[in-house]
Amino acid sequence: MRKPLIAGNWKLNKGGKDALELSRRIKEGIGDILNVDVLICPPFTALAEVHEVTRDSPVKLGAQDCFYEMNGAYTGEISPLFLLDVGCEYVILGHSERRKYFAETGDIIGMKLRAAIGVGLYTILCVGEKSEERESGGAYDVVKTQLGGSLSDIPDDYIRKITIAYEPVWAIGTGKTCDPDVANEMHQFIREWTGKRFGYKIAEEMRILYGGSIKPENISSLIEKEHIDGGLVGGASLKAESFLEIIRTASEKNKLTTDKHG
Ligand code: PGA
Repeated sequence: MRKPLIAGNWKLNKGGKDALELSRRIKEGIGDILNVDVLICPPFTALAEVHEVTRDSPVKLGAQDCFYEMNGAYTGEISPLFLLDVGCEYVILGHSERRKYFAETGDIIGMKLRAAIGVGLYTILCVGEKSEERESGGAYDVVKTQLGGSLSDIPDDYIRKITIAYEPVWAIGTGKTCDPDVANEMHQFIREWTGKRFGYKIAEEMRILYGGSIKPENISSLIEKEHIDGGLVGGASLKAESFLEIIRTASEKNKLTTDKHG
């Protein structure tokens, strides 16, 4: 029984009033859809105000990153405790843009996972290969290394607070979506890896999201696959209409495939 999760990663967009407007429209638009979990991840500066909109609604709130220390002399960083304070339930960690522009390594991401889960946050750990790695046949090795790099030393019970997002880097923001069967195979591989490391029962229960150019037109063919349990949506989460359409489609599909999600 895996309930789908549709998560919006707003990245460096919608920082001020626009964040309030977008979150209001999403909250109003999801109406009585309860068979899909909906998460939005605005920039840090908008979190507290957006929480005023989303509190007492089914829309969950998350951040796009956090630091691995709780307090101290770390200029510019954000503690997982601060995220709790402003109403976050989730935090995205290890996004490929963080790996690329901020040199985040598996070790650092592992430390962030431990810190965030340690204070009670749910986490979305992003993994995914670059186009040259896919072309040279190295996609599985890359993802395996990323999983091992961040999850090897995580306490066993922490896995319950982890959702993994498979986001092939070549599909992010490019309009090129991964073929659903190819994505599903990678999701199955991630589930298998997690099963070996943490136990097969918990791996069966863990949600694995796909991310990379999700749009209203392609969510259906992705989410109908056995191991694809939702999406991490960038560009299409910045407009209420497209994000809501993705959510509605996921909800419809979930009704049709009750054997998959319960
Ligand atoms: P995209 O971004 O949907 O714009 O491709 C996805 C992500 O980076 O999480």
